[in-house]
Amino acid sequence: MVCASAARCRLAHVKHTGLLAAPPGAGLADISRLVDSYCRTQALLSALELDLFTVLDAGPAAEKEIRSALGLHGRGLRQWLDLLVPLGLLERDGDRYGNSPEAALYLARSGRQYLGDFLLKAMVPSLGNLSTALRTGQAQVPGGGMAAVADDPALLRSSIAAMDMLTGDIVPSLLAAYDDWDDHRTLLDLGGGRGSVAAGLVAARPHLSAVVLDLPPMAPLFEENMAARGAAGAAAFRPGDFFTDPLPRADIVLLGNVLLDWEAEQRRSLVRRAYLSTNPGGALIVYDHRLRGAGPGGQETLTLNLLTLAMCGVSDYTLDELDTDARAAGYDAVEHRSPGSPPRPVVVCRKSARPA
Ligand SMILES: C[S@@+](CC[C@H](N)C(=O)[O-])C[C@H]1O[C@@H](n2cnc3c(N)ncnc32)[C@H](O)[C@@H]1O
Repeated sequence: MVCASAARCRLAHVKHTGLLAAPPGAGLADISRLVDSYCRTQALLSALELDLFTVLDAGPAAEKEIRSALGLHGRGLRQWLDLLVPLGLLERDGDRYGNSPEAALYLARSGRQYLGDFLLKAMVPSLGNLSTALRTGQAQVPGGGMAAVADDPALLRSSIAAMDMLTGDIVPSLLAAYDDWDDHRTLLDLGGGRGSVAAGLVAARPHLSAVVLDLPPMAPLFEENMAARGAAGAAAFRPGDFFTDPLPRADIVLLGNVLLDWEAEQRRSLVRRAYLSTNPGGALIVYDHRLRGAGPGGQETLTLNLLTLAMCGVSDYTLDELDTDARAAGYDAVEHRSPGSPPRPVVVCRKSARPA
């Protein structure tokens, strides 16, 4: 048989011989790696469900002590603990296991960046229903969707820690994507969470005066985060709803990882409201790992798009659509850049100094 491409040839071989009889090629190795990474992920999730990292937060413990503290049978315990060591989540010293520094920060309940509630209450149950999300186009977060997150303080805290993990490297990209930071004085971060991005921008451009607008339950997390970063006073928090409340004006308005959570009509309304808040000569800056160009996007973008479908019931927003929405709102120049490594999509929408 003559095969038009290596992939089709491999498929024909697999069909002809049966998958298991196929020689281990790249395709089989990829499938095997995916199955293996699911098992590793489950080892982490079980550790969160059983609260292993919180127990070890008190100090390293031997297998027997862990068994008794977690109420486990004992079978498989040694293998589970030993797997978590090379995964970087536990450290082993003789017969005692302790948290790695990352596990203490992100996976023990007392850690300031605890991700467990976000993973267990929101991400895992919704992604576990990805098939239903694909069938229905509906969000799969239990108990009222992501809109209900603000009603659960532990989940809100954990979700915003997960957001900070995603945006931890965005500030240098924002600084590189826009040349005129020094010409502006005021910054408004719409849906700016607990203020980490605004604090990073003010640290890099101390002449900026920043306001972070987010839902009222975010206020204590904002104050706590600013104090922990030694940035108290670097930015002010304004509680409000960006769809309905009056928005303060600013030279630079930021919308980061926000637009893709909403339906097309709401996105247009938000871009229009951002325009009305932008001072003449200023700009709206949009960043979002999930924004994509004309092509399908890289694996990270596609994964995040699917996660957004499962969690928010929306999945997509292209740079072309954002360009159209921004121009319709009144911005007269829209530039897309992808600075940084890995490249992060940043869109700068400039408002004329003399808007029509
Ligand atoms: C996905 S997070 C992005 C946070 C931050 N901009 C970042 O990039 O890390 C979306 C943020 O929008 C906020 N938000 C959601 N609905 C809102 C509303 N109606 N008014 C104001 N903020 C809202 C959420 O509380 C959350 O902090």
